[in-house]
Amino acid sequence: MKPYNDFSKLLNDELLQILKTTVKEEGIEAFIIGGFVRDAILGRKQKNDIDIVVLGSGIDLAKALQKKLPHAKPIQIFKTYGTAMIHWEGIDLEFVGARKESYSSESRNPKVTAGNLTDDQNRRDFTINALAISLNHSDFGSFIDPFNGLQDLENKILRTPLDPNITYSDDPLRMLRAIRFANQLNFTIEAQSLQAISKNAARIKIISKERIVEELHKILSTSKPSIGFTLLEKTGILEYILPELIALKGVEEIEGQRHKDNFYHTLEVVDNLCPHSENVWLRWAALLHDIGKAPTKKFKPPIGWTFHNHEFVGAKMVYKIFKRLKMPLNEKMKYVQKMVLMSSRPIVIAEEQVTDSAVRRLVFDASTEIEDLIKLCEADITTKNPNRFKRYHNNFKLVREKIVAVEEKDQLRNFQPPVSGEAIMRFFGLHPCREIGIIKEAIKEAILEGEIPNEMEAAFERMKIEGKKLGLTPHEKSV
Ligand code: CTP
Repeated sequence: MKPYNDFSKLLNDELLQILKTTVKEEGIEAFIIGGFVRDAILGRKQKNDIDIVVLGSGIDLAKALQKKLPHAKPIQIFKTYGTAMIHWEGIDLEFVGARKESYSSESRNPKVTAGNLTDDQNRRDFTINALAISLNHSDFGSFIDPFNGLQDLENKILRTPLDPNITYSDDPLRMLRAIRFANQLNFTIEAQSLQAISKNAARIKIISKERIVEELHKILSTSKPSIGFTLLEKTGILEYILPELIALKGVEEIEGQRHKDNFYHTLEVVDNLCPHSENVWLRWAALLHDIGKAPTKKFKPPIGWTFHNHEFVGAKMVYKIFKRLKMPLNEKMKYVQKMVLMSSRPIVIAEEQVTDSAVRRLVFDASTEIEDLIKLCEADITTKNPNRFKRYHNNFKLVREKIVAVEEKDQLRNFQPPVSGEAIMRFFGLHPCREIGIIKEAIKEAILEGEIPNEMEAAFERMKIEGKKLGLTPHEKSV
């Protein structure tokens, strides 16, 4: 046992002293355990939830501590789980009695009985999460590290305390946690453990969709999500979570024509996007931007491989995926759909001539999401041909410049028709009718084509011309 000699960095000193005396006065043993210890040693941004495992009643220790902590919020007790929580100065202290768990094959919910510290450490997911630090008078600050978690932290290895088949089968969520930690911390999953994940992959089906999505969010929030998704694919888990991505895998060749592997392309796009946006929903859009390519793929001579309408098909699939994964079907989902639907638009402009009217239309359709869309499309440039890579990026620079110019002139981002339907009705003395829509559309088109500026006066003049074309005459009062 090696003492942890930098306790001051780990915990607020006042809290530490109160914990120490309370544990002593209560005459029980207690230990800080889990993610808090792991992150403290790794020097990661400190977690504000601290797990304390107690040999005895966690609730009793929490009650005694709460009385001593100045301004602590009322204690929360969860009798069924034998846990108690104290919220103090922005820190959540969670107390639990040491337990022994046994699992059945149908459920994640274990049968729990009281146990000793070793039992409790045995039931944890990884050696690096089973490290405990003593809060006891006799050996205060000592590490209790029966599985060499410290060594694993140093060697950047994820290893389960027990046979990995038992650890993962007991709680299959841990397979996702392993992959997420490997991605987040840049750790390697030990070989036997990785094998066990592949073997138990199908057990992920008993995990709630919400927990799965929580882990996917965390993977997508890392700086290189392709690490996590590659592991998900290699272990077979992705097949159960997002089969639509698996369908993008592979390269087909007909008559000497090949298409790219859209699975690996997708992962590259997600990685490319990460330095430019922390927005996890934009990262979801990057992950799903090509899913419509699998169902729309066709070989059409002499053109070659086509994915006609894949953006539209993909946007529809986004809804189905969100629904299946029990993700919110709200504006976030609509945002992802919109990004997927529009994901090829800027590329088409960048590949061809960057005309003013094409940019104007793009800004009009993308509206407030134009910046995100361009970021997604720049990330989508994965060509290995350096000349093409440069050309596309230069064209996007031009698209960006034109967006600024168009914005300055016409403010199309939150387009409001400069002449309202009411004004058209008043001018021509009309009741609601289809001509109003035709005129409004013609004015919008004229603005997007750059024929007139997005201004009231010019639009009003255009309205008169369009009305005339439809055989309308100004109402007496308007003249
Ligand atoms: N744990 C576990 N199996 C799980 C979830 C958690 O064994 N499926 C244990 C681990 O010892 C873990 C601790 O419970 O360290 C606390 O879990 P949690 O707060 O969910 O995760 P952390 O490891 O603290 O890390 P993160 O917040 O990044 O998930």
